[in-house]
Parts: sequence; C-alpha cells; structure tokens
Amino acid sequence: MSKILLIRCSINSKSKRGSISGHALDLFKKEYIEKYPQDTIIEKDLNKIDFLQVCINENNLDTWFDQNSKDLINELKSVDKLVVATSMVNFNFPSLLKNYIDKICLAGETFVYKYDNGKGGSEGLLKNLKVAFITSQGSPVEYYPFSAIPSNLEGTFRFLGSNVVKSVILDGSKTPTESTKTKEEFVDKFKSEISNLVNTLN
Ligand SMILES: Cc1cc2nc3c(=O)[nH]c(=O)nc-3n(C[C@H](O)[C@H](O)[C@H](O)COP(=O)(O)O)c2cc1C
Repeated sequence: MSKILLIRCSINSKSKRGSISGHALDLFKKEYIEKYPQDTIIEKDLNKIDFLQVCINENNLDTWFDQNSKDLINELKSVDKLVVATSMVNFNFPSLLKNYIDKICLAGETFVYKYDNGKGGSEGLLKNLKVAFITSQGSPVEYYPFSAIPSNLEGTFRFLGSNVVKSVILDGSKTPTESTKTKEEFVDKFKSEISNLVNTLN
C-alpha cells in the first residue's frame, strides 16, 4: 500500500474553460484509484494555502523555513509518490509552485551540499519519492525552448534525490485548432500518456 500526493496549482480553475492540467490530474486520479484502490491519496491545491501566496524575500528570509516549511517537507517524506499538475504562466510555472519549491528546498532536510557531506557533490534526501509532472501550456512545446518547465521541475526533484519519471506535456492549448475545444476535448488526445503515467507510477 502506497501513499500518493497530488498537487495542483493552476491559476485558471475559475476561468470559463477551467483548468486543463487540473482536468488531466482528475483523469489521472480516477484511473489511479481504479488501479490501486488500496493506496492513500492526499491532495493539495496551492491556491488554497495562504502562506504560499507570499514569495521569499529580504523581509522574510529569516523566518521562511518555519513550521509550514517543515510540515511540507515532512509530508513529502511521508509519501511514496508525488504528481504535480502545473501550467505555464509567462514562460514559467506559476509563482505558487515556485513558493512551494522554495519552502521545501532546505539544506540538511531535503538535500545536503558537498561541503556538508564532503563527497564532492550534493546529495538529495527525498529518495523515498517517485515523482511525475503533468504540465500544460498554450503554445506548442517547441515554441519556447527557453521556458522548459518540465526539465526544470524534473531537474529540481532529481537534485532532491527523487526518482523522476517522464512528464506528460499537454501543449498547444491556445493554438487556433485547440483553443475552441473544451478542456475535456483537449485533454482527450493525451489520455494514453496519462494512462501510461498511472502504470509507470506503480
Ligand atoms: C496569465 C497567463 C500567462 C500565460 N503565459 C503563457 C506562456 O508564457 N506561454 C504559453 O505557452 N502559455 C501561456 N499561458 C497559457 C496557459 O499556459 C495555457 O492556457 C494552459 O493550458 C493553462 O493550463 P491550466 O488550465 O491547467 O492552468 C498563459 C496563461 C495565462 C492565464
């Protein structure tokens, strides 16, 4: 029996179309429950967490790694799998997710630097985690190679020691042929990739 944490952070859930990455995560969750009914699912929407609405800055650095940070880290240490559904906002993932990452990247807790372990390299401490990302963007993935959200997120969690599997990239939602589709119609063409992700996370 495993524990899986599902995180969503779309800023579009209240829009007419609704959230594409959120819908993809719903499909993932439905299939995951069918396949692994004995597993425990924990869910988080970063929009709903008050302390994640503030970014790290010079006024709060001293208190940034507070009990909230420790609670998020402990949660990550207590689960076996993590799936993060995110979208692109101005060539990056939403600030909400950056704030979450800033809360959980804590030296000595989720990684150690080379000068901590003397081995000539850093070591990630979230080795318990198998991690996957579902990302959504308006443009086709090749349009903005400088804004490679999946590789940034994958690299971050590899640094943290996790076993990161291939992301599902829901790209092109705003192109002329796709923008008139509902979120259900748009995500439909990625259904097999979402199913594969359920299997990969076994
Ligand atoms: C404020 C804002 C900024 C956006 N910036 C980008 C962008 O830089 N590149 C892009 O390809 N799409 C961009 N988009 C489009 C979204 O990434 C796209 O609609 C995505 O499918 C939304 O996923 P979601 O519904 O899960 O949030 C932006 C959308 C909004 C609302």
